[in-house]
Amino acid sequence: MSLKVKLFHAIPQPIINNVLLTFPLLYRTSLIYYESNMQGDGINEIYSALDRVIKMPGQIIECGAARCGTTILIAEYLKKNNTNRKIFACDTFSGFNKDELAEEQKQGLTTAGSDAFTHNSFEYVKRKIRKFGFAGVITPVKGYFEDTLENICDNKFSFVLIDCDLQKSMSFAAERIFPSLTSGGIMLFDDYTNDTYKGAKIAVEQFISKHENEISNHGLLKRLYFVKKT
Ligand SMILES: C[S@@+](CC[C@H](N)C(=O)[O-])C[C@H]1O[C@@H](n2cnc3c(N)ncnc32)[C@H](O)[C@@H]1O
Repeated sequence: MSLKVKLFHAIPQPIINNVLLTFPLLYRTSLIYYESNMQGDGINEIYSALDRVIKMPGQIIECGAARCGTTILIAEYLKKNNTNRKIFACDTFSGFNKDELAEEQKQGLTTAGSDAFTHNSFEYVKRKIRKFGFAGVITPVKGYFEDTLENICDNKFSFVLIDCDLQKSMSFAAERIFPSLTSGGIMLFDDYTNDTYKGAKIAVEQFISKHENEISNHGLLKRLYFVKKT
C-alpha cells in the first residue's frame, strides 16, 4: 500500500470527503490528482484514445470508477474539446465482491486486501460530480456489473475503460459491453502488467483470443491494454 493510500485510510472518510468538497482546488493538486488511479501514462493513454473516437457517435463507460477521479478527468477533457457525451461510471462504490476477491486470493491471483476501495460512498461520488458541474454528464451507476450493465447496454459506446482488477468482473464487464461498442470504438483495460492483480492479464488474453476476428488492432501501451473494434 502506498504512503498516500495509507494516509488516506488513516483519516476518517467523512473528514477527507468534507475537506475535499469544501476546498475543491485540492483535487487539482498532484498529491490528490482528482483521486484518479491513472496519474501519468494511464491518463495520457486515455486522452489519446479519446482523441481517436471524439468524432464518432457513442457514449463513454468506465467499469470500476472508484471515487470517479478518472471519470471527472474524462469529462473535463471532453468539455475542453467541445464534445457532448454521456459518461457512465459503474462501481459498487464500496469495493470488490468479497467472494470473488477471496477466490482470487485463494488462487494466488491477487494480494489485495479486503478493504481495497472500500473508502468510498455513492453519496460522496454524487456530491463530487455535482461540485465539478458534471451532474448532467456523468451518471454514476451503483451496484455489481452483473446487476447494472444490463440496464445501460442499450446505449451505444465508442469508448470503454475496464478498470475493475479482478478477472471474473473484468471478463463479465468486457463481454457484456462489447456488443454495444461501435465499429471503430476503443476498449482500454488497466492492470495487464500489475502484479497485485494477475487475473487482469488472464481476462485480457481470454478476451482477445475469443474476439480476435472482431478486433482490428490491439496491444499493450505503456500502461493500458488497447483494443479497437473492427
Ligand atoms: C482500480 S479501482 C478503479 C479506479 C478508477 N478507474 C480510477 O482510475 O480512479 C477498481 C474498482 O472496481 C470496482 N469493482 C470491482 N469489481 C466490481 C464489480 N463486479 N461490480 C462493480 N464494481 C466493481 C471496485 O469497487 C473498485 O472501486
